[in-house]
Amino acid sequence: MVQFEQTFENFIMRHQENYNRSYHFLILMDAIITAATRIELYYRTGALKDNLGASGSTNVHGEKVLQMDEIAHNIVVHYLNSSERIIQAVSEESEEIITMNMDGGRYFIYFDPLDGSSNVAHGLPVGFMFGIAKRNFEGNIQGPEDFHLRAGNEFIASGMFVIPTGMFTLALRDAGCWRFHADETNTYVKPTRIILPKDTEKWELSFNSANTYTFGENVQEWIRENEKKFTFRYLGALAGDFHRLLSNGGMFMYPAILNHPDSKKNRPQGKLRLMYEANVVAMMCNEAGGAAVNEAGDSILDIKPETHHQRTTLYVGSKPMIEEITKILKK
Ligand code: AHG
Ligand code: MN
Ligand code: MN
Repeated sequence: MVQFEQTFENFIMRHQENYNRSYHFLILMDAIITAATRIELYYRTGALKDNLGASGSTNVHGEKVLQMDEIAHNIVVHYLNSSERIIQAVSEESEEIITMNMDGGRYFIYFDPLDGSSNVAHGLPVGFMFGIAKRNFEGNIQGPEDFHLRAGNEFIASGMFVIPTGMFTLALRDAGCWRFHADETNTYVKPTRIILPKDTEKWELSFNSANTYTFGENVQEWIRENEKKFTFRYLGALAGDFHRLLSNGGMFMYPAILNHPDSKKNRPQGKLRLMYEANVVAMMCNEAGGAAVNEAGDSILDIKPETHHQRTTLYVGSKPMIEEITKILKK
């Protein structure tokens, strides 16, 4: 059967037209799509061309950098730079903020070029995740106040590609969360609006259960009382785990690690990065009708970042579940 699917390009151009928005965002999205397509290409042939191993260096978080981390980072930086639309970029793989087009740029972008590094050696799904905020055009547009790191509630868009599956999800501020599929020609097509299912039957729980006994007492108690109600799913790549969650509902969490037998492994601030992991999924979840909070039970999107690589604890998913865990966390 011949199918005539709407393309992502057409969808996003219509969106800009309907909301009376600029063509600049189209140029930026084109750069992001091109970068994702290139990452996907390198990833698919990664084992074949010996690109899945370690690069030999360590990143700002003290983690071993993989060749694919570097390749993905370089690809994204190249296309973002070429778009000439980015003022500054924050990448998981760069200690410094990357300045691109200070005068003519229009957007700030925060990205994780390759999320889920432990899957790389196996060629299993990874992610490319990004959040976008816009230059403040009111007032003094050149002032330093305009270059502050933005809270998630100031993002105009956030999205993620699950690589190499050809799935792309994009949240547009106040305009929903949308999923696209790469077709045979690598064109993203078929916009489908994502709304978290109300039907609790499908809901899943996703967290690294090896860490359970290191969580706070309140969280451990909630797990003991509730875990039997759910199926567990954990891929070890936030992008992939969250992709499932958007379809099935439930909750993904990366709580604070407080009681690790090796105290050096405690992570009271959690593991995930606020700007390019937690905020990205929190915005998508919010647009899909869900919510996201941190260990204090406060909304992830309201956190005012202090540093660009700061970490946060994360509880994200279906609203009733996040409301329930918020009560526990606030106790
Ligand atoms: P990254 O590979 O970009 O460093 O991110 C990995 C993150 C996230 O994708 C995943 O949900 C989490 O780390 C997995 O951590 P654990 O191995 O501790 O479960
Ligand atoms: Mn990551
Ligand atoms: Mn990464």
